Order: sequence, then structure tokens, then C-alpha cells
Amino acid sequence: MQKPGRNDPCWCKSGRKYKKCHSDFDEKIEEFELQGHIVPPHSIIKNDRQIEKIRESAKINIAVLDYVSEHIKEGISTAQIDRWVYDITTEMGGIPAPLNYEGFPKSVCTSINNEVCHGIPSEDIILKDGDIINVDVSTNLDGYYSDSSRMFCIGNVSEEDKRLVNTAKESLNVGLKQVKPWGFLGDMGSAINDFVEENGYKVVREVGGHGIGLEFHEEPWVSYVSEKGTEMLMVPGMIFTIEPMINMGKAEIYVDEKNEWTIYTKDGKPSAQWEIQVLVTETGYEIISY
Ligand code: MF3
Ligand code: CO
Repeated sequence: MQKPGRNDPCWCKSGRKYKKCHSDFDEKIEEFELQGHIVPPHSIIKNDRQIEKIRESAKINIAVLDYVSEHIKEGISTAQIDRWVYDITTEMGGIPAPLNYEGFPKSVCTSINNEVCHGIPSEDIILKDGDIINVDVSTNLDGYYSDSSRMFCIGNVSEEDKRLVNTAKESLNVGLKQVKPWGFLGDMGSAINDFVEENGYKVVREVGGHGIGLEFHEEPWVSYVSEKGTEMLMVPGMIFTIEPMINMGKAEIYVDEKNEWTIYTKDGKPSAQWEIQVLVTETGYEIISY
């Protein structure tokens, strides 16, 4: 670990002296590291100014999802959702983070029924009665990133699909209860996995959440099938997503061969996902985007 002198400026760029800023914090982290735990690198710890910028980015993300929730309905195409996302994001001064991200062709991911995630909006995909759809919105505002997603039920959705959607949503609260400084991401992941299995569903293993804020995807990679007391130490100033993908049937998935993006359940059964972006604070957590 690179440490400044006690009277030098802190590495977090707060402008404060190291001894008055992250000096005690670093000592505490080193103790966990000595015990063999995975600890966060300095590069993913945000200062107050950066957190404020990320909150501004999230205002756009939330506004976009609010608009979608008011206007989504049977008969529209997923390309229509993509246009809403692009237009509102850019009108508010942001850029949709997915657009051209590693070649992703659209501004938002729209994943219906047996699609787990990374569905690509299209004029040919029309929402129909009984569909469940995840709309996953991510924003870049002046280089600060936000990311959250919600599920929408179109028309008359079956009771069993509704229960899947609600369980996916509730699992976020179960995970959030475990988010606190000096706990472990595995506490959160294992709580979610236990809750989902108690409800008779499966959590997708291969696709997880991620750190976010100064980049779209930062360390750590976040699993929701992890073990208590394992994975990265959570510390104040860390921001990551909680976004477990929950399958009604088996956990196995596959990637679309043609577009190399869209992920489906192997057994063809439905999958649901809600996503929030969370900041670890001195006392617990703050939801940044939902
Ligand atoms: N929220 C999704 C994620 O973090 C968004 C992916 S955008 C894509 O995985 F461009 F990568 F598809
Ligand atoms: Co994400």
C-alpha cells in the first residue's frame, strides 16, 4: 500500500492532510489484509466531491427509469424504450453508458421473460400481455457513472411470474441489511442466495454486480452466491451494485451466439432482476440509484 507522509495531502484527493483523512482507515485495512482478507484498492474509494457527482449522475438514471415506468405498456417495441432512454439522458446532459460500451449497440438493456440480462432493444420486439421485462439503465455524467434496473409487468402477468419478480426485488433488501463498513461482500451475497433458495429459485452464478462510479465497471466483481465472511471488505466510500439475477428454474445460462450479448436461461424458464447502486457509509449504506 502506497502511503503519503502524515502531513502530505491524502491519496483520496480530499485536499486534507493524510493524518486527518484516511490514515486510520489505512491502518484498519492493513489489519484485515494481514488476516488474509481481500481489501479494496485506494482507486475505488470515493471522496465527498466524487460522491456528489455520482449522485448527480444517478438523478438522471432515476428520472429515466421513472419515465419508463410511467409509459411502458403492451404494444410498444423495446426500441421505443431505447429512444426514451437516449432522449431523456441526453436532454439532462448525460450519455447512456451502455451505448458503444464494448460494442453494445444500444442505450439500454431490455431483457424479457427467459432473457437473463443484456437484451438488445429492437423494433421487432413488441411487448405483449403477460411479459415480464427488466430495463437496465446506466448513465455517464461528466465521467461519473450510475447504474440501476427495474422489472415491469406488462398487462396480466401470471401469479408465478409475479412471485419471481417480487422475490428478486425483496432480495435487494435482504442483501442491503448486510451492507455496512468493515463487513464483507460475501455476507451480502450469501444472505441473498439463502433467501432466493428458500423461495425455491436459483441465483445466476456467472454474471454478477460490480464496483461503479469513476468507471462504469470497477473492482470488485460482486457475487450473490458467495460465502459469509469472504470476498472484499466493505469500507466507507466504496460504491457497488446489488443486482442478483434470479431464475425460476435452473441456474444455468447461455449467451446468444449471434449477438454475443444476450444471456438466456438454459431451461427457457423466466428470470428476474432488480438492481440498485449502493454507497458504503461510516454507519451503513446509502442507496445512490434504484
Ligand atoms: N447494468 C448492466 C451491467 O452492468 C449494463 C450492461 S451495459 C452493456 O452489466 F453494454 F454492457 F450491455
Ligand atoms: Co450493472
